[in-house]
Amino acid sequence: MSEVLLLNGPNLGILGRREPEIYGTDTLADIERAVGEEVAGRGWRVVARQHDCEGEMIRTIQDSYETVGAIVNPGALMIAGWSLRDALANYPRPWLEVHLSNVWARESFRHDSVLAPLAAGVIVGLGALGYRLAARALVSTVS
Ligand code: DQA
Repeated sequence: MSEVLLLNGPNLGILGRREPEIYGTDTLADIERAVGEEVAGRGWRVVARQHDCEGEMIRTIQDSYETVGAIVNPGALMIAGWSLRDALANYPRPWLEVHLSNVWARESFRHDSVLAPLAAGVIVGLGALGYRLAARALVSTVS
């Protein structure tokens, strides 16, 4: 069965309890379930991983070259995750960057992503819905 990688970075494992006024009340398990629902129609399965360390994220990407595509919320590694960027540059499939919050409406240090230029698309500020939309984008664009 084809697999989609859902990769979440630092501090996203505590979604639901993390600044809910910014990130909402959905847990990561809720989000993983939602993405699974979106891709099920294409017969895909979600492989969900969350890591607080950049190196673990890189290892996951290196181990996921057989997946059909990926949804990545890098958390604060968007700002200066250069090693993560290099890992994503070698990921052979389309991937989307998702941020729950509207990073451009927040502190200026969140306004640039070193990863976004490599992404097939970026979704910000739509909360957990953003992950569903990213999944739909993969479903309709991946051949
Ligand atoms: C985030 C935005 C980042 O700036 C922040 O560091 C996060 C979460 C988001 O989903 O809105 O950890 O990626």
